[in-house]
Amino acid sequence: MSSANQPVQGMSDIGAPEVRLWQRMEQVARDVLTRYGFEELRTPAVEYEAVFTRSLGETTDVVQKEMYVFERGGRRLCLRPEGTAGVMRHAAGLGAVETDGARWYYLGPMFRCERPQAGRKRQFHQCGVECLEPPSPLVDAEILALQVDLLRMWGLDDCAVRLNTRGGAGEQVKVAAGLREALASHESALCEDCQRRISENVLRVLDCKNESCQAIVATLPPVTDFMCEKSREYLALVAAHLDALGVAYEIDPLLVRGLDYYEHTVWEIVSNNLGAQNALAGGGRYRMKLGNRELTGVGFAIGLERVVSVLQTLGRDAQLLEAVRPLVWLVGLGEEAIKQNLALMQTLRAAGVACRMATGGSMKSQMRAANKANATWALIRGENELTEGVAALKDMEAGTQETLLLDQLPAHLTAQIAARA
Ligand code: HAM
Repeated sequence: MSSANQPVQGMSDIGAPEVRLWQRMEQVARDVLTRYGFEELRTPAVEYEAVFTRSLGETTDVVQKEMYVFERGGRRLCLRPEGTAGVMRHAAGLGAVETDGARWYYLGPMFRCERPQAGRKRQFHQCGVECLEPPSPLVDAEILALQVDLLRMWGLDDCAVRLNTRGGAGEQVKVAAGLREALASHESALCEDCQRRISENVLRVLDCKNESCQAIVATLPPVTDFMCEKSREYLALVAAHLDALGVAYEIDPLLVRGLDYYEHTVWEIVSNNLGAQNALAGGGRYRMKLGNRELTGVGFAIGLERVVSVLQTLGRDAQLLEAVRPLVWLVGLGEEAIKQNLALMQTLRAAGVACRMATGGSMKSQMRAANKANATWALIRGENELTEGVAALKDMEAGTQETLLLDQLPAHLTAQIAARA
């Protein structure tokens, strides 16, 4: 039911307590991605429609069915359905000096007007990377290893990597012809969409969600059968580098991914703990012709809603949250204590301590507020503490309490926080 107080169907508000998990995931992501030499790139959520139609492919589901397109000032604009095309649009506007070897990451909302269901949203969030180093199986393996590393740092060390190749430039035609021939005798048993796809974009038959089409697809020869030896060798090299890096994967001979810009390496990472929408992440190597520039890169995107869902299903969210910066809740007994706590709170914040307080209420109600905010400590001051220049620091989980001199507080708390990090 639509109501002015509800978000748009398929879109969600993300608030406490879940938003803490999001913040923590973003923090871990920035940390891991920086270690791999990536810089953040923030592109707009609104782009010209052509940014996506020219690179994702006119006949992909995303372009044909799922884009939010609108017109303003005679230009066709859209909400970005994914991050890669916008990043490459940015790259195409730069010179070779800035793009050669560029490593960019992004974190943000994407929009696809799909039928909402568990794990499938109309606004969802991706953490993605694009690496513009010269094509090499070594780079592909490093980027895939980074993705596995990031998922592990979030607490997901048991996802399955499915790997394959789309073949080199120009091979798409041979692969398409091979698949068309292999599908010819099954045409009447395919769904209406797939019958159209055979002539329009036969690769899309391979990722049709329809069960009877999937049964036919399972009988098809691997797409590598239609490729040249060089493409198969490229895949073998990626696989060998992954072996050397200790990254487990399975070759999926019919994995082609749903976007047309890919060539050579493609992969998907799936979790058994998601329902029908079990893809946590996808990636691969791609080539795009943008104006007079042709750019190649390799990258991936992870669906953050799906990661949150798996972490929650497996009960691993608490583990990640433990590392959230601890909060001190200042409790003041009486007006004067509350007033002085405001100043103390600013001193502690300046020292790097996260603090909050209530502006009034009984000791009981203030302690309740501390509990609700998940505070690690309550810092309590009444008349006696004010006179003596001390404060009582209560560990909310252990229930223990100690009295500290005000001067000692910033150093004591920062040391405690560092010890917990
Ligand atoms: P993609 O496979 O379309 O790839 O999306 C990546 C991930 O985004 C999916 O695995 C899934 O977790 C999440 N996702 C996609 N659609 C939805 C949805 N409707 N609701 C919730 N989550 C969703 C790309 O977007 C490519 N740009 C990845 C890439 C980057 N390839 C190279 N560089």
